[in-house]
Amino acid sequence: MLCLLRIDASAQLQDRSLTRHLTGIFTQRFLAEAPETKVIVRDVGLHPIPAIDHRFIHAAFTAPVERDTWMQDRLALSDELIEEVTAADIIVMGAPMYNYGMPAALKGWIDQVARIGKTFSFDLARGDTPIEPTLSGKRLVVLSARGEFGFAPGGVRAHLNALDPALVACAHYFGVAAGDIDTIAIEYQEFKDARFQASCDAAERRTRDLALTLAGKAVSRSGARLKARGA
Ligand SMILES: Cc1cc2nc3c(=O)[nH]c(=O)nc-3n(C[C@H](O)[C@H](O)[C@H](O)COP(=O)(O)O)c2cc1C
Repeated sequence: MLCLLRIDASAQLQDRSLTRHLTGIFTQRFLAEAPETKVIVRDVGLHPIPAIDHRFIHAAFTAPVERDTWMQDRLALSDELIEEVTAADIIVMGAPMYNYGMPAALKGWIDQVARIGKTFSFDLARGDTPIEPTLSGKRLVVLSARGEFGFAPGGVRAHLNALDPALVACAHYFGVAAGDIDTIAIEYQEFKDARFQASCDAAERRTRDLALTLAGKAVSRSGARLKARGA
C-alpha cells in the first residue's frame, strides 16, 4: 500500500496557515487519484518535537544492546518518527520560513530522524564521505510560504534563503535524493497585495498538478509491481 507522510510545521492553526492550506490541497488531490493511500499525519507545529539534548546524544551513540532503559525511553519518540519516515513513499512537508530558516519544531523533527545506525551509518573506512544514508527511493514535496519574496534561485533574496538548502542537505536522512525534491512556495504574504494573490493562485495550481502527477506515477508503479509478482 502506498504511504504518504504529511508533516505540518506551521505554528499557526489551519485557518491562518498558508502551508497547512497547501499540504491540505496536496493530500486531498493525492487521495482523489490514489484512494488506497495510507496517510500518516505528523503535526510538529501543533505538537513541537523537543530539541535533542546530551541524554539523547548519549543514548543514540550507545550500541542498541548496551542501552539502559532510560536510553530506550529517551529514543522512543525518535524510533516512532523514523518508523513513519521508513513507511512513507512520499513525504509532503509544510515548511514556513521563520527568520530565514525552518521553524525550530521542524529542525527538532530532523534532529530526531537523523540517527546513527537507523537512518545513516558512519564509517571512516569510507574516507572523506563517512556518512551513508540508510533509506532511499522516497520523494519529498516541500510546500512553503514566506512573508517577503525573491528567495528562489536567482531571486533578490536567494542569498538569505537558509530554509530550502537546509532541507536539501538533510533530505538523504529521509531517503530522498536531491533530484527527488519538489519545492513550491507562496511569497509576498506580508504585502497582502495582487502579487501575493497571484503567488497563492500559482502555488495552489502547482500543488494540485504535482499531487496528481505524483499519485498517478505512484499508482502505475505499484500496479507494475503487483503485475511483476503475478498478482
Ligand atoms: C516567527 C516568524 C518568523 C518569520 N520570518 C520570516 C522571514 O525570515 N522571512 C520571510 O519572508 N517571512 C517570514 N515570516 C513570514 C512567514 O513566512 C509567513 O507568514 C508564512 O505565511 C508562514 O507560514 P504559515 O502561513 O503556514 O504559518 C515569519 C513569520 C513568523 C511567524
